[in-house]
Amino acid sequence: MNYVMGIDVGTSGLKALVVDGQGRGIASALVEYGMDTLKPGWAEQDPEQWWDALVKAMRKLKSTVPDLAHSLSGIGLTGQMHSSVFLDQKFRVIRPAILWCDQRTAKECEQLYQKIGFDRLVRLTLNRALTGFTLPKLLWLRNREPGHYKKTRHLLVCKDYLRFRLTNELATEVSDASGTLIFDVRNRRWSDQLISELEIYPGILPKCYESPEITGELTREAASLLGLKPGVPVVGGAGDQAAGAVGNGIVEEGAVLISIGTSGVVFAAHKKPLIDKQARLHSFCHAVPGLWHSMGVMLSAGGSLRWLREVLREADPKMDYPEMTALAEQVPAGADGLYFLPYLTGERTPHFDPYARGVWFGLSLKHSLGHLVRAVMEGVSFGLKDSVEVMKKSGFRISKFYLSGGGAKSQAWAQLLADLLEEQIYRLKVDEGPSFGAALLAMVGTGRFKEVRAAAKATLNLKDRFEPDPKTGETYRRLYRNWQTLYPEFAGKFRELGSRL
Ligand code: XUL
Repeated sequence: MNYVMGIDVGTSGLKALVVDGQGRGIASALVEYGMDTLKPGWAEQDPEQWWDALVKAMRKLKSTVPDLAHSLSGIGLTGQMHSSVFLDQKFRVIRPAILWCDQRTAKECEQLYQKIGFDRLVRLTLNRALTGFTLPKLLWLRNREPGHYKKTRHLLVCKDYLRFRLTNELATEVSDASGTLIFDVRNRRWSDQLISELEIYPGILPKCYESPEITGELTREAASLLGLKPGVPVVGGAGDQAAGAVGNGIVEEGAVLISIGTSGVVFAAHKKPLIDKQARLHSFCHAVPGLWHSMGVMLSAGGSLRWLREVLREADPKMDYPEMTALAEQVPAGADGLYFLPYLTGERTPHFDPYARGVWFGLSLKHSLGHLVRAVMEGVSFGLKDSVEVMKKSGFRISKFYLSGGGAKSQAWAQLLADLLEEQIYRLKVDEGPSFGAALLAMVGTGRFKEVRAAAKATLNLKDRFEPDPKTGETYRRLYRNWQTLYPEFAGKFRELGSRL
């Protein structure tokens, strides 16, 4: 047998998926880990945690796939985007990685606009400065931890750090490079202009490949630690959103993928890069060579429900999503007047506000736990609709909606989105998430498929479809309008009270 493996270094855990030559998932292993929030709005992880999780995942896989070492012909990497790792000249990690959902860099984003200018930054990178992106994190290090900055010789994002541990190569690929904000997305290469204007040490950035290209091979040392054979090719892979899109068949214009993981993303592929002077959506390179993609990103989508689950578990350790959604289903659309703003870690699309925070609005004696859960699910769905609306306003014609990610496992959530968006929502049979897309990229890089589109099409398998209910749709139209009026009322207060913390 000839297997490939997709490795997804996620926010809450690492998943390794083994796929056979037909694109069928053979086995997977998940190893969970936590995140450190030293201050409100901060989010860090020790990169060593990712490596340890990989070692553990390999041990689990070896017990289910005993011939793995002999059959593995390629590895594809994916993971949380933007999350930044700083290495010294001996390739040692200098400080914990600063994650995509960390909000500490608001001042650095403002500094970037002062130095480069909003319009020019958008012209050079096609994107605005967002607190989660990599460049503001590097500038934060320069401003706030100059000792660490001076030692920094290499800057990598999450999955590329694992690549380094696996292959000894410092490399990335176009989809994750796009999220650094030091990348000329239009021309698929580092922005020399920004590097020189910001006086960034040019050697700090890794070599950039297209996503299916081979970037190195498993070293003897890594192979022996993981129980694999040296020499297995490791392809570029992709940021988790682009990899998830490949795995869900979003490899040409038309269909849109909504994914509900910790973050919530509305993702579309484009033949040309999306150029929007206001940069209302992220405009990045796709993992398909020759394609670009745009996306609207919410920072706490599944993350909001997870937060609520963790709080409930303090009282009832058995509490889990099925129980929570069952309670929510007993409550009518609109949760009897209860609204939720899902901005627990600030928000990107459409508000671009690192100071925003979560709110339950309209609480009354009538409200039960089911109401709280329903309001969270609705608030997250309204946030996703915000991104869909921005996409439509950018002139993008959407032919079909697919739903993916942990949140997609809930039928109730899929139906809620169909009703709210007044659109059919499709789910795929195999939804292994970004790890599957990374495995497909490995298949392309190692020659099993000629190109990414062919790989995605050969493995695409629809599971079901949710039909919008027109009556509930009408109710949601009104509720969405009401919900939209809440953020502007709170925006000033978020900033005022948040900056006093
Ligand atoms: C995308 C983003 C998040 C992370 C989550 O820009 O920041 O979706 O990739 O892992």
